[in-house]
Amino acid sequence: MEEIHIAGTGIWYPEDVITNDEIVSSFNAYVDDFNYKNKEAIDSGNTEQLDHSSSAFIEKASGIKTRHVIDKKNILDINRMMPLVEHEDESKLSIHTIVGIQAAKKAMKAANVEPSDIDAVILGTSHAARNYPSVAIEIQNELGIDGYAYDMLVGCSSTTFAINNAISDIASGLAETILVINPEISTPFVNYKKRDIHFIFGDGCVASIISKKNNSNNAFKIIDRKLITKFSNNIRSDWSYLARAAGDEKSFDDLLFYQNGNSVFKEVCPLVAKFIKNQLEKVNLSPNEISKFWLHQANSRMVNLIVSKIIGSDNFDTDLAPLPIEKFGNLASAGSMFAFNLHNDLKKGEKGLICSFGAGYSVCSIIVEKV
Ligand SMILES: CC(C)(COP(=O)(O)OP(=O)(O)OC[C@H]1O[C@@H](n2cnc3c(N)ncnc32)[C@H](O)[C@@H]1OP(=O)(O)O)[C@@H](O)C(=O)NCCC(=O)NCCS
Repeated sequence: MEEIHIAGTGIWYPEDVITNDEIVSSFNAYVDDFNYKNKEAIDSGNTEQLDHSSSAFIEKASGIKTRHVIDKKNILDINRMMPLVEHEDESKLSIHTIVGIQAAKKAMKAANVEPSDIDAVILGTSHAARNYPSVAIEIQNELGIDGYAYDMLVGCSSTTFAINNAISDIASGLAETILVINPEISTPFVNYKKRDIHFIFGDGCVASIISKKNNSNNAFKIIDRKLITKFSNNIRSDWSYLARAAGDEKSFDDLLFYQNGNSVFKEVCPLVAKFIKNQLEKVNLSPNEISKFWLHQANSRMVNLIVSKIIGSDNFDTDLAPLPIEKFGNLASAGSMFAFNLHNDLKKGEKGLICSFGAGYSVCSIIVEKV
């Protein structure tokens, strides 16, 4: 295969920050209010009392300390508990387009490419912004890029699967340079009234330039990529255009993101560790030849467990497997490339591994080498 590079990346994230103490204080105020208003039903056994959340649990269970969000005030307001956004129509750009363009401009600058160098835009995300037209085409139009553009959805692997599509299109001769954009505006879809979910997600966007060319001084060539999917209902959203016509009664809240986090943890860690080990064997690399593991940022314990299974030791520091989750929370599919963007100071010839895993289940691992 001709050399193909990750030639540059860029990230965008909102200014608003919510700490664990702030999200817990809001959640606990909601719980107290709920328990007070439902005291009779709770006392008579008809309704279950809600339990408090805690910052100590959140940090220990997930590693998350803060998250950046599009609307702190309304998320923390116990009478709303979700960000306030506007309906999107043709009178304005989609929020995904606005943040996508900001990340894309940084990626283009890092890769030293102009819109006229780009042949395609691929947008991968966990939550479709709308059915059509593709947000990628809107971004293509705004940036003045020729060629083709489309959106794709693969849950928390949308970013790496989109990069993989870009690599395939370039390898096949269809394109030379592709802009991959991954906006993850997750907070409107979070049920902030659920104790096991309310602390998990932040908002952010990453963009990457995938190219045959190497005009930048921080490019990484692609050595190998490997993908797998295995069906599971453990991370799920039942939101769909069919909801409008559904005859059975479900609320908006019933259709939001839900997960069996503990099963995900137990099933995905061994799956991913084995998957990466097999990939490294296939390309004749030993785990200690990998200088950096940029892994999906759903849970810091998962990142550490997977890396320790791969290298056969839990004696390593975050330099080997960076944890932007601490600051940004779970950024859905953007997490692994956020880690890459923020911690890619490798020397020429050093290798690293980008790996996403999540809903589907879906896993994609990409080995790169600094050139
Ligand atoms: C979600 C996650 C952080 C929860 O951590 P966990 O260690 O699995 O925690 P559990 O759900 O087993 O809960 C442990 C206990 O803490 C309690 N708990 C849950 N949320 C709590 C909170 N916010 N505050 C205090 N206690 C809480 C539970 O009720 C449970 O209590 P019990 O033992 O009395 O039943 C973790 O499972 C995870 O990150 N999994 C991976 C998820 C993932 O990759 N998803 C992909 C989406 S991108």
